[in-house]
Amino acid sequence: MIIASNFKTNHTRKSTLKYLKKLEHFVTQSGSKQDVYIFPPATALDPFSLPPRIKVGVQNAYPVEKGSFTGEIGLEQINEFGLKTILIGHSERRHVMGETQKLCAQKFEYFQEQGFKIVYCLGEPLEIREEGIDSVIDYNHAQLEGIDLSYENLIVAYEPVWAIGTGLTATPQQIEETLTKLRQKIKAPLLYGGSVKANNTKEILEIENCDGILVGTASWDVDNFCQMIEIADNLA
Ligand code: 13P
Repeated sequence: MIIASNFKTNHTRKSTLKYLKKLEHFVTQSGSKQDVYIFPPATALDPFSLPPRIKVGVQNAYPVEKGSFTGEIGLEQINEFGLKTILIGHSERRHVMGETQKLCAQKFEYFQEQGFKIVYCLGEPLEIREEGIDSVIDYNHAQLEGIDLSYENLIVAYEPVWAIGTGLTATPQQIEETLTKLRQKIKAPLLYGGSVKANNTKEILEIENCDGILVGTASWDVDNFCQMIEIADNLA
């Protein structure tokens, strides 16, 4: 399973190092078999030396090596830390920062060429969910425009916008129905994200076509996150 944590705008350099130390200890001691991904803020990046099961990635980057893009980071800055994993298309980038599908696709193409592991996010807002499953699938499919689904280093995270940071988790039935329909198009591992917590991790990971979770809020506490990894380890 893939167990991923998106720190968003949380944690400092110091607290990220502390977090990763505890996480490394847990993963090593428990002999965990999960593929763990951590996306800290850009200010906390470092050439981390971690066990191969723990990968660190960037939450965002501009699709250039370097240049005049104030406030952004590019390939040169990521390469300094030897990182090869990126999150693209997160709903907060799309809906809060106004990132278009065109820009998401440009980022995808650029980092695909660089051979990055890409965790590509999609998900519908509440008004689309309320229209029913056909609208949900159409909306999510539109977020796949310009994305090479045959890319071998792709992971797709389905994160309904209305379930992110709201405490409102999609029901297992909603997740299963959506993932099953997305699976017809997407052969890459499929994650679910949106108010995943230790107490719903098991039922979400047991859903057919769910290959892991992308966790925000509940993962910012390292003990909580380790608990979720442990739940994945204990699945039959
Ligand atoms: P929450 O777990 O806080 O709902 O966030 C999910 C998410 O956006 C992960 O990328």
